[in-house]
Amino acid sequence: MSIEEKVKELNERKERLKLGGGRAKIDQQHAQQSLTARERIETLLDKDSFQEVGLFARHRCTNFGMAGKEFPAEGVVTGAGTVGGRLVHLASQDFTVAGGSAGEVHSDKIVQSMLSALKTGTPFVFMNDSGGARIQEGIDSLAGYGKIFYHNVMLSGVVPQISLICGPCAGGAAYSPALTDFIIQTAGARMFITGPSVIKEATGEEITAEALGGPLSQMNYAGVAHFVAENDLVALRICKRLLSFLPSNNLEDPPQLQADDIVVPDKTLNTLVPTDPKKGYDVRQVITRLVDGGDFLEVQPLFAPNIVVGFARILGRSVGVVANQPSVLAGALDINASDKGARFVRFCNAFNIPLITLVDVPGFLPGVQQEQGGIIRHGAKMLFAYSAATVPKITVIMRKAYGGAFLAMCGKELETDRVFAWPTAEIAVMGPQGAVNVIFRNEIAQAENPQKRRQELIESYQSTFATPYAAAGRRDVDDIIEPAETRRHLAMTLDILHSKREFRPMKKHGLIPL
Ligand code: HXC
Repeated sequence: MSIEEKVKELNERKERLKLGGGRAKIDQQHAQQSLTARERIETLLDKDSFQEVGLFARHRCTNFGMAGKEFPAEGVVTGAGTVGGRLVHLASQDFTVAGGSAGEVHSDKIVQSMLSALKTGTPFVFMNDSGGARIQEGIDSLAGYGKIFYHNVMLSGVVPQISLICGPCAGGAAYSPALTDFIIQTAGARMFITGPSVIKEATGEEITAEALGGPLSQMNYAGVAHFVAENDLVALRICKRLLSFLPSNNLEDPPQLQADDIVVPDKTLNTLVPTDPKKGYDVRQVITRLVDGGDFLEVQPLFAPNIVVGFARILGRSVGVVANQPSVLAGALDINASDKGARFVRFCNAFNIPLITLVDVPGFLPGVQQEQGGIIRHGAKMLFAYSAATVPKITVIMRKAYGGAFLAMCGKELETDRVFAWPTAEIAVMGPQGAVNVIFRNEIAQAENPQKRRQELIESYQSTFATPYAAAGRRDVDDIIEPAETRRHLAMTLDILHSKREFRPMKKHGLIPL
């Protein structure tokens, strides 16, 4: 064969392999409003930046008529490319090829891409669309998943890992996304460990695949998914936006964008939070006024909405924001809010993203369900995560800051670098009504006019504790600031703390209460 013929053959082979499972299967994928594995990659990456690895990979299975059967690219497209000019490694499962099922070589390709991400210090993006372990390959396909899980853990905390769930992701396969940092699930995707038919057999419960594994279930109830997207295009947009806030690895700072460095006071902040502590408001309105261009990428908006977490920028610098949400459960911390908050704090700490905590918390949520569900163990995660975090930690107490929840929202004693309070802040062991009932029970009972005496004592308690001045006197608060000036204070503090380095005793790892 001449070189021209060899090149022609090469190109034909490549073209054929790149068609995956063929035109009919691609049409089926499109009919379900889904992109193919390669279209997802093209949409995510900068134009012409993709370098594919392993297009010619072939399985070694001979069971059940598999000998000699070709699965293009082994059902997963892997390689590297750039997003906004920054390198990422990726794997995109091709449902048109044997349902994206993961055999030995399929999984090895994914692992190779993960290792490349690790060695080059670049994020790993895994687009899941698969029927799970390739049944014909038996133990080899299970071993393949085992290797993926192991390497998810190796990458954890070193490079950001993002999973997109674009189709089925069932059985043990769901544990790879679960081991990554963020899960973006499309509306049509389904995630579960055991599907509806197995559940019916085992427990008699009946449920549809959508209700069990759709985004509503996996975000709102389970807190497994971090973002829900109506389709692949939206999911990929979220992925790009998320990457823009993150450094490529744990040794780098997040990218800093050019920003106007003039901060004008925002007087609306002075009145946005009602002075009446019983009144709710949407804390996202405060967040969007504090950050560049009102651009806030909220993480898990529909899970534990009593706490709001997400990414934003202040004068071009990425920050992680954690805020109580007084419009839901009065912003109290419960089991799910503690899990959500602590996990986010740990992610930010691992990837050098400063933390801004906005406090308006009446306490931990009371209730038998909370106690028996382990609020002590879960709430402790917030204390642990903030105490263990060494990134710049800045806290703003807007209104209520009561009891243990005040400390759990990055109180000063957790080596918080700056604590600011608004004049509306109330910092105390508990709210005035509850406190007076405990410490003056006898005095109130014996008073000539118990109602009047109770009110007097509440007012006295309020003027002593329910202000930021007592806390500032004890240096639990570093400064009391006008709400309108908060963005300026945050920007200055981020500047001052930019070179912060904090060293802790060497240990294998701390024991966060799981
Ligand atoms: C081999 C598979 C496969 C699998 C699908 N296919 N799943 N091949 N191993 N796990 C193949 C089908 O045979 C079919 O091949 C093609 O992919 C498309 O599948 P369909 O069933 O036609 O598609 P659809 O109707 O859309 O249904 C998709 C599905 C279903 C819901 C994912 O295929 C399904 O239930 N698959 C099995 C899921 C499962 O139980 N997997 C094992 C989970 S346990 P042809 O040749 O007809 O195109 C697991 C363990 C991991 O993953 C353990 C890690 C520790």
